[in-house]
Amino acid sequence: MSEANSATPAASQGGATSYSLNVNGKPQRARVDGDTPLLWVLRDELGMTGTKYGCGGAFCGACTVHLDGEARRSCVTPVSMVGKAKVRTIEALDATPTGRALQRAWLELDVAQCGYCQPGQLMQAASLLQSTPNPSDEDIDATMSGNLCRCGTYGRIRAAIKLAASQLAQGAKGAAT
Ligand code: FES
Ligand code: FES
Repeated sequence: MSEANSATPAASQGGATSYSLNVNGKPQRARVDGDTPLLWVLRDELGMTGTKYGCGGAFCGACTVHLDGEARRSCVTPVSMVGKAKVRTIEALDATPTGRALQRAWLELDVAQCGYCQPGQLMQAASLLQSTPNPSDEDIDATMSGNLCRCGTYGRIRAAIKLAASQLAQGAKGAAT
């Protein structure tokens, strides 16, 4: 395994290892045990607290981030498994047109209630729209069913995903004409 990939054994100290990560387009380094979940590296080592802790067991989706554009539960992703994958968190959701469209739709439809689950919801939704630009209700329900919301904002989340999808489609059409 190369140094840039992840582990840097020469830099091990007291059981911890130095990991090089690409987070939101920037190189980051964390000295932690290899089984430390990415969630805690983001929150505790890098000070990026937008990604939330809910269940710690891949049941709620609060901790969802992207690895190379795909939604992943950071609470069960050991830092040693991240390798060269590009990590994107809620802090950089607005770096993509899809992320910006989702954020606008979320605001327009006033989706959030307490807000705690919403970073994970948005990251999961962004991953869905990247792979399925025009999702049906069934697509949305299937993809979003692992992201729990104690406040029950599911109806508004679904509407906001559809609004973002239609705005992105209109933008694409406008750009093509
Ligand atoms: S905190 Fe990761 S899925 Fe619940
Ligand atoms: S908005 Fe409160 S948990 Fe989802």
